[in-house]
Amino acid sequence: MSSTRPTSRIAGTGHYAPEKVLTNHDLERMVDTSDEWIAERTGIRQRHLAAEGETTSDMAAHAARAAIAAAGIAPTDLDLIIVATVTPDVPLPSTAVFVQQKIGARPDCPAFDIAAACAGFIYGMSIADRFLTTGGARHVLVIGVELLSRVIDWSDRTTCVLFGDGAGAAVLTRSEDERGLLSTHLFADGAQAQALHIPAGGSALPASLATVEAGLHTVHMTGQDVFKYAVRALSSASVTALEANGISKEDVRWVIPHQANLRILEAVSKRIGVGIERFVLNIARYGNTSSASIPIALDEALRAGTIESGDLVLMCALGAGFAWGSALLRI
Ligand code: ACO
Repeated sequence: MSSTRPTSRIAGTGHYAPEKVLTNHDLERMVDTSDEWIAERTGIRQRHLAAEGETTSDMAAHAARAAIAAAGIAPTDLDLIIVATVTPDVPLPSTAVFVQQKIGARPDCPAFDIAAACAGFIYGMSIADRFLTTGGARHVLVIGVELLSRVIDWSDRTTCVLFGDGAGAAVLTRSEDERGLLSTHLFADGAQAQALHIPAGGSALPASLATVEAGLHTVHMTGQDVFKYAVRALSSASVTALEANGISKEDVRWVIPHQANLRILEAVSKRIGVGIERFVLNIARYGNTSSASIPIALDEALRAGTIESGDLVLMCALGAGFAWGSALLRI
């Protein structure tokens, strides 16, 4: 059965994880922590770290090339490049313009970054969907990429054990069959901005010797506040996605959540009534890669054949801001 309403279908995905792996046992030698504590409290066993000199756009370009190849298009077929990141190559210009150059997209292909932290990939897909379904674009590249290891205080055990580097990408293509994005729902609550932030380096507190000495260029977080808010917000955004489409939780084949903490996801699973065995989980191997976590998990599951054509997939993510959202799509 074909529908006349255009949709945004995932035509190809790719991901990239840097070669270097830092295990929990490696961290035991760096801060006062243990493999047992990290694994029990977060589900994380190891994370990948970018090599010296490797940049956010380098990682994004690797993932993008794989997604473009999987989609069976040429880089010059892209009509728009969206890079979701809070760890750009430089403050100015966008990381997306470096990606445009590195992958050989058209020299006039529009390209921009969005900053929605761990929710970045869902925000990016939502924006892409608008361009695709209103006719402005045929192929949009959405990348979630983070190089968090450069903005982590490696002496702070409460944050350094959580994060990793990586990139995931998807080519979204305008389609007229029943597959594709059914909806995206986006939310933000700026009252929570201090719960997870990098205090300095912007207009509020420009970089200075004092800000560097005070350690204000790294991630600061109130972990338990983030935890509690995440469980509530991820659950309610997921339910909103299902209700908006008149779809019952039994019809969801897979949930691809942002991978921040296994315990957060177990709590969300209970709240929304979708068993954890239907969650695509790779947090043990990557840690929290922020905006990259959903597209990495999506790409791995597609390539492994875990997610198949026709499957109904629910995505949900929350990150700094707080910014959060959900997406429902038929693969
Ligand atoms: N190793 C050993 N002990 C530690 C470590 C560590 N790496 N980190 C903290 N501890 C200690 C604390 O100091 C504390 O000790 P105390 O009792 O002597 O004071 C104890 O462990 C318990 O600390 P809590 O903060 O209560 O531990 P909790 O169970 O809340 O876990 C964690 C902390 C993992 C940070 C959790 O709160 C969490 O995951 N929050 C969500 C944060 C998050 O995911 N942020 C990512 C970005 S947002 C997102 O992606 C959703």
